[in-house]
Amino acid sequence: MYIQALVFAFAALPSASAAPKRNEPYNHVAVFSVDGLHASDIDKYIALRPNSSIAALLKTGYQYSGAYTSAPSDSFPGTVAQFTGATPRTTGVWYDDIWNRDIFAPGSDSDSTEDLDYNSSQLFSGGINPANLPKIVKNGQCVLQYPHDRLQVNTVFEVIKAKGKQTAYVDKHPAYDLVRGPSGTGLSTGCFPEIASIPGNNVPAVIAYDQLHVNAFLDYLDATVPEHSEGTLTAVPALFGGNFQSVNVAQKTYGYQNATNFPFTAPILEAIDFVDASLGAVVNKLKSKGLYNDTLIIVASKHGNAPINPALFGEVDPAQITNATGVAVEWQTSDDIALVFLNKSSTTATAVANLDADRTAGKILNSMSLMAGIKGFGSPINNPFVPDIIVQPDHGIIYTTSKKKVEEHGGLSADDRNVACFVSSPRIRKAKNFTQRVFTTQIAPLIVEALGIDSGELEGVRAEGTDILPGFD
Ligand SMILES: *[C@@H]1O[C@H](CO)[C@@H](O)[C@H](O)[C@H]1NC(C)=O
Ligand SMILES: *[C@@H]1O[C@H](CO)[C@@H](O)[C@H](O)[C@H]1NC(C)=O
Ligand SMILES: *[C@@H]1O[C@H](CO)[C@@H](O)[C@H](O)[C@H]1NC(C)=O
Ligand SMILES: *[C@@H]1O[C@H](CO)[C@@H](O)[C@H](O)[C@H]1NC(C)=O
Ligand SMILES: *[C@@H]1O[C@H](CO)[C@@H](O)[C@H](O)[C@H]1NC(C)=O
Repeated sequence: MYIQALVFAFAALPSASAAPKRNEPYNHVAVFSVDGLHASDIDKYIALRPNSSIAALLKTGYQYSGAYTSAPSDSFPGTVAQFTGATPRTTGVWYDDIWNRDIFAPGSDSDSTEDLDYNSSQLFSGGINPANLPKIVKNGQCVLQYPHDRLQVNTVFEVIKAKGKQTAYVDKHPAYDLVRGPSGTGLSTGCFPEIASIPGNNVPAVIAYDQLHVNAFLDYLDATVPEHSEGTLTAVPALFGGNFQSVNVAQKTYGYQNATNFPFTAPILEAIDFVDASLGAVVNKLKSKGLYNDTLIIVASKHGNAPINPALFGEVDPAQITNATGVAVEWQTSDDIALVFLNKSSTTATAVANLDADRTAGKILNSMSLMAGIKGFGSPINNPFVPDIIVQPDHGIIYTTSKKKVEEHGGLSADDRNVACFVSSPRIRKAKNFTQRVFTTQIAPLIVEALGIDSGELEGVRAEGTDILPGFD
């Protein structure tokens, strides 16, 4: 299907051509993830704040109320989906911290969290300490595995930079080095203040942290490299963006009200108001620089958080699941999902049968063996990064011993995956809500095609036949 995308609207035409101007590529794409923001939150917010920046962006925008992020819905595969156009079976990135059977020990976890930092108690401690990286055997050699080395396909940042254009990105850990892509060269400049250095569960502190991201977006519009960033800029980047953390923290800490349609609690509303004002500041600066008409703005969350309905929330000790397999478990990644790597794949059927017998105590909705190569996930037989078993809990259950959370993400539910997603530009004359099911992987072809680049240059788009978002096809 991607072939269709190659011959569509944004194809750059010679300037002498009489072709319609509306098909001209944009000079800039700005892409923002409001981590945690659900599709339903957009409608709730507009109802409360009809004069907000988000409402204004939607007046010349396409909303995708049926947009789904990756499965699993961890931040890492969620980010990778938007920037490669592919899902974990193709990208190799299932989770930020997860087992890889090929890592030298052999068998260890690929940990792309704050654990890679020189000192995760500091906002800027100098980035990734190579001493904290796992080692992988590559072409018979034992080499360090940077987060970007985990990717099996290229990213939009690499494709755009290879065209001589500039790219800039901001996210919550130095491990977001990931977006540079397998070449390691996709970013002109990257800014990665460490979120783990911020006191947990403190929404105002996380808003102050997010302001550093906003400062970076505004710096990019002056072609300036923000403080504590890596790399250089000589012009306003063709692609820039990053994430917001505060909505995510407010959801996990306070959640929604237990009332009809689950209204925002005050901290969630405070965080969305901050994000809205920040998007407004970016739009105002684009306008003052004369760049607004030349910039496609994409707002899409890497992930949601579950459950929205607080009455469904519950916790189960992850060890309950490990123990219930009844076989030797090598590794388990646990959130509102459990991804289980067994010591011997031959014990998978036994483990799944045992988990099925433990549905009540483990609050298990479904245990899937990936030995069968369930469509969309790949198989642990051929892929060192594919778990043997996915355990999906009942909706609202989190596999954790933490007592600080009322929501989490990573899982497969609609609350985890049905994320906020919209695209805005003054060139979009007729606002529209596309309600059909779409995927955030469809953002990647849009990013490159909007800049006049063939989306067939994205390996993940080719591998999965990813279509561009509707409205642009
Ligand atoms: C890490 O940084 C914190 C905060 O600056 C400091 O208190 C701590 O001593 C540092 N740890 C190491 C191992 O340097
Ligand atoms: C915005 O850009 C489009 C496409 O290049 C062009 O046709 C239109 O005239 C521009 N509008 C303004 C207000 O500059
Ligand atoms: C939510 O409201 C329902 C109905 O009023 C009540 O039964 C339930 O205990 C409440 N749950 C929470 C978590 O407040
Ligand atoms: C899991 O098994 C271990 C070892 O037998 C035991 O110590 C632990 O209490 C069990 N945990 C749960 C939650 O069942
Ligand atoms: C896993 O299997 C290996 C060899 O097959 C063995 O050495 C190791 O002890 C096993 N680990 C567990 C936890 O059973």
